[in-house]
Amino acid sequence: MPERFTIRVANTDIAFACDANTTILDAANAAGFELPYSCRRGACASCRGLVRSGEIETPYPGDIYVLFCQARPKTDLEIVPREIRPIDPAAKSTIDAKVLRVVEAADDVRIVQLRFPAGVRAKFKAGQYLDVILDDGERRSFSMANAPQQSDVAVLHVRVMKGGRFSEQVLPGLASGSLLKIEIPSGDFWLRDSAKPAVFVASGTGFAPVKSILEDALRKKDPRDMILYWGARREKDLYLADLPKKWAAQNPKFRFIPVLSEPEPGWTGRTGFVHRAVMEDYPSLAAYQVYACGVTAMVEAARRDFIAERGLPPDDFYCDAFVTPADLKT
Ligand SMILES: Cc1cc2nc3c(=O)[nH]c(=O)nc-3n(C[C@H](O)[C@H](O)[C@H](O)COP(=O)(O)OP(=O)(O)OC[C@H]3O[C@@H](n4cnc5c(N)ncnc54)[C@H](O)[C@@H]3O)c2cc1C
Ligand code: FES
Repeated sequence: MPERFTIRVANTDIAFACDANTTILDAANAAGFELPYSCRRGACASCRGLVRSGEIETPYPGDIYVLFCQARPKTDLEIVPREIRPIDPAAKSTIDAKVLRVVEAADDVRIVQLRFPAGVRAKFKAGQYLDVILDDGERRSFSMANAPQQSDVAVLHVRVMKGGRFSEQVLPGLASGSLLKIEIPSGDFWLRDSAKPAVFVASGTGFAPVKSILEDALRKKDPRDMILYWGARREKDLYLADLPKKWAAQNPKFRFIPVLSEPEPGWTGRTGFVHRAVMEDYPSLAAYQVYACGVTAMVEAARRDFIAERGLPPDDFYCDAFVTPADLKT
């Protein structure tokens, strides 16, 4: 039997048990408490917090911030998470959603429109994601691209991955009327109340949750300045570029900068890595919030470089890293 320890949460009367083989995030969940998280795999830092006393086992020794999805206790601990709240069992729904249509938005991007059964609605925050539950119980995460006011549908932007079980094997067989089991919602990627201007950095289908957030914020006439950098390889990979262009034309507080890493001849816009384009434009990010979403390498580079080289406060970086099994092998 692994040794069991007590984890106390600073400035609260919350305490829970955690054994030496279990992560602090999993133990908190098992005890009925929710800590912020996204990837659960050490890539996004959504679960970061501090350990005020005690010792932990972690793949990242020496970091001031501890990733609670990776850290296991070696002693009793006192921790300082960014947030903690009791899990609301009614907050998530499992739904047999009906496929309305699947649209080919780019060579390797499909827009999947799902409709919930009559009378079923799913409450979610703009920016959150759902899990598609496959026949054998395996899950795949996809962000809602629609704004939360449309609570009887979910629109997904799915990148087709070579060898991908859902995107390459299941998705081509889906037609109007097919059923998909989903669990909705999850995730910690949503717009925080703040007077700080917000910089959004998306790569590829990382545009999906950003679209949801921006449509929601623009509809609510959020007064802050917002700017979107959307990166892809070629122009045609920016599969809905007309939409942010339209938002920019209609909203003086919003700007859109497309960035291509492998532009075709004739492209006169920005080039290179999308997070580098942000750094070229902002000598300091100290007074900003950043919302980054997309491939893990971009999200990790953005977090590292914005904090180290542009003075972004770590607590003002929010992200969803689109972790895949391939990332876990690197
Ligand atoms: C919170 C969150 C939100 C997300 N939202 C979106 C979204 O909105 N849109 C989107 O496009 N993606 C999103 N993703 C990413 C998406 O969930 C993954 O890309 C998912 O893996 C795709 O599922 P799949 O079944 O198509 O591919 P998978 O079967 O998961 O395979 C993905 C890739 O990994 C490779 N692979 C599989 N198994 C292994 C292995 N054992 N070793 C090495 N390589 C392997 C496959 O060949 C393939 O290239 C999100 C991820 C997270 C965590
Ligand atoms: S949830 Fe821990 S690093 Fe992503």
